[in-house]
Amino acid sequence: MDTLIAIASDHAGFLIKEYIKEQLEKEGYVLKDFGCFSEQSVDYPDFIHPLAQSINTEKYKRGIIICGTGNGVSMVANKYPNIRCALCWNKDITLFAREHNDANIIALPARFITEKEAMEFVKLFLITSFEGGRHKARVDKINKINCGENKWVIRNTMSKELLQYLH
Ligand code: RB5
Repeated sequence: MDTLIAIASDHAGFLIKEYIKEQLEKEGYVLKDFGCFSEQSVDYPDFIHPLAQSINTEKYKRGIIICGTGNGVSMVANKYPNIRCALCWNKDITLFAREHNDANIIALPARFITEKEAMEFVKLFLITSFEGGRHKARVDKINKINCGENKWVIRNTMSKELLQYLH
């Protein structure tokens, strides 16, 4: 298991980030902290882009990101092709994010979960393996935006006039 973990948050997630760091370090994990470094208001993309780039290039294998809702940070992280960031707010969602989606980043909603819950989800995220099999085929398709289904969606949103040129 990889014990080198990247972590980042905005001001809303700062206290939970510090708590998670402290707990994980006690268990022997090594954390690369991309900030932020206080509760002073900041813009989450400034901290999540550097973390996401480091996971996208496989410098780090797993990441933990935190903001008030978890949405802003996951939107930034999922811009990168090798990132599968899952917003996790309960144990089952977290488990399936690893088993089915092979998530490499967990996003946490600091304003809606306790520190204890955050740690539970993080531990589950770090120790759960990807199931592979049918899920591997699905995960492999995530970046294939030209697959048949998407073409179908595009065709069905085109006007009749435009469609006649495709025959
Ligand atoms: C900050 O107030 C808040 O907007 C941010 O933490 C996050 O929830 C954005 O998605």
